[in-house]
Amino acid sequence: MLNLQTRKKILSKGKPNSSKILWYGEPNLGSWYTETEINAVVKSLRESMDWNVGFGPNPKTIEEFENAFAKYCGSKYAIATNSGGTGIDMAIVCLDLEPGDEVICPAINFKSAHLAILNMGGKVVFCDIDPKTLNLDPNDVEKKITPRTRAIFPVHMNGLAAPLDDLLAIAKKHSKSHKIRVISDAARCCGGTYKGKKIGSKGWMTIFSFQTQKLMTTLGEGGMITTNDEKLSKKLRDMRQFGGEESWGSNYKMTKIQAAVGLVQLKRLDEMNRRRRLAAKRRTELLKDVPELTLPYEPYYAEHLYYVYGILVPKEWAGVKRDKIITIMKEEFGVVCSVSNPPTYLRWPYIAKHCGNPQLPISEEIGRRLICPPLHPLLTKEQELYICAALLEAIEEVKNLSQLKALPGIEDVSEVKIKDKIIHHLTIQSKLFGKLEVSSLEIKDARKLFNFYFKSLSEKARIFFNPYPLLSPRPNSPRELAKKIKDWKKENDWTFLKLSKGSEMIGICLLKRYKTDKPTTGLAVSEKYRKKGPGVYLQAIVDEQAKLLGLKKLIITIAPDNLDSFKVHQKAGFVKTDNSVPHFTYKNGEKVIDRQDIEMIKKFEY
Ligand SMILES: Cc1ncc(COP(=O)(O)O)c(C=O)c1O
Repeated sequence: MLNLQTRKKILSKGKPNSSKILWYGEPNLGSWYTETEINAVVKSLRESMDWNVGFGPNPKTIEEFENAFAKYCGSKYAIATNSGGTGIDMAIVCLDLEPGDEVICPAINFKSAHLAILNMGGKVVFCDIDPKTLNLDPNDVEKKITPRTRAIFPVHMNGLAAPLDDLLAIAKKHSKSHKIRVISDAARCCGGTYKGKKIGSKGWMTIFSFQTQKLMTTLGEGGMITTNDEKLSKKLRDMRQFGGEESWGSNYKMTKIQAAVGLVQLKRLDEMNRRRRLAAKRRTELLKDVPELTLPYEPYYAEHLYYVYGILVPKEWAGVKRDKIITIMKEEFGVVCSVSNPPTYLRWPYIAKHCGNPQLPISEEIGRRLICPPLHPLLTKEQELYICAALLEAIEEVKNLSQLKALPGIEDVSEVKIKDKIIHHLTIQSKLFGKLEVSSLEIKDARKLFNFYFKSLSEKARIFFNPYPLLSPRPNSPRELAKKIKDWKKENDWTFLKLSKGSEMIGICLLKRYKTDKPTTGLAVSEKYRKKGPGVYLQAIVDEQAKLLGLKKLIITIAPDNLDSFKVHQKAGFVKTDNSVPHFTYKNGEKVIDRQDIEMIKKFEY
């Protein structure tokens, strides 16, 4: 473990090499390229320049790539596609689902499989995971089997093989009038092993991705499906090319140049994965004695490829404190940690809307504890030391916060449609304040906002709910703030509203899905309005908010150093409910509130 002195020394030198460039938890290029890939591109391109040759329509290189890939995985057939996502779509089409047929999937996943199932009229049945491996928990899978189950769709999460034999045994045991298929998503596990053998030869089919962040890439996009089923391989091949003679299809083909590069990357894959494992091992050595961290686990049956290096923070740090570590890592040290991945039904409104909220306790907890600092096979020792030092520093900072600075959250409510309702309730609030107007914050408002927040008020704005990250770290100029507004606006789950009175801006309000699992509001008002307007009407605001959202219970988390907000909430009749967490419970009249009301809230939502 790095001691305090070493850590400070490492950090005092700043970020090695690319100081301004952010390092991402899922790096933008997952593998690396050599002259051999470049030569392969040039050769393939030159060859294609002959008008009698061109790029297709059925280039031999693709067949060569498929054969090499099948051989590498020990499968009989391999079908190249233009992405992992389209490969997954094709796999689900092959299930011939009837409306309501079920496919069991982990919720800790990328959303691709879930979208594919919905698209074919199927029902996504979310299943919990083993918290050590982040892979499907066979016990929970078995509980979720019904007469409508058509497939089990594990993902080999983050480079670690799912317990395939257990899942295959469950599928076999429950295959009665219908066969239950096992299809696996190996987008993040190309070259991974299960019980000493390469992934790709077990189950009905396996789908790989060669997208740019993956363990190997075919010029940024691409995928492969492997199977041992001859009939299925023919169907997939036809589907890839407009359905052949007799069936449905479209164009899912990759290009010849991608295949040429794929052949080279495939030859180098084991070496690249070996380097990745070494980088992970070095990190494990540096972090293994940090009591707050649970490091990735490698079961006896598989070699972990560490597509991401997933670390868990303590249970008590789930959510807010974990988020704080991520913020510190990014804002103080330029290291972006990913959360790969929270349950899709909490992360993506579309999935929540169509799949509901199955409330998987383990997956939800993992989604709030997981943190994945960047890992790449080419990470230098110096860069690795910097990442670990930054992480330890962030942990220290979070540890030293007796109470954590937090934004208010509306807990346990599905986020779908919440934004519209909050906008509506703000409009109502504005009526309560008298002639206040609520409207969208535009890029052109940057100067006004900058003056309001930083200049004329010398940061004396009363922050009831801090609308960061728009204002933190502090932008240095209106221009910088304008850029921030522009960037945040691109992400459509963010809304910034301004509160104005005539031409004067008196407040800003932020609505966002905070770090993927909580809808959040933020509100700052000018000093002048501390004793009137939003400050005084806080209770009314919350009343409206609760009413419009159909909530009987609202938990508000307040930064402990935000004394204004504390006082106002206390005055407004909030009851402080828990000493360990700075939150208040809002009592709506006499109605007593507890968890079973969550069901009611959901009904209201849909
Ligand atoms: C687990 C998982 N499945 C599927 C996909 C989709 O693959 P592609 O980007 O090649 O469409 C990805 C990521 O991109 C993924 O991480």
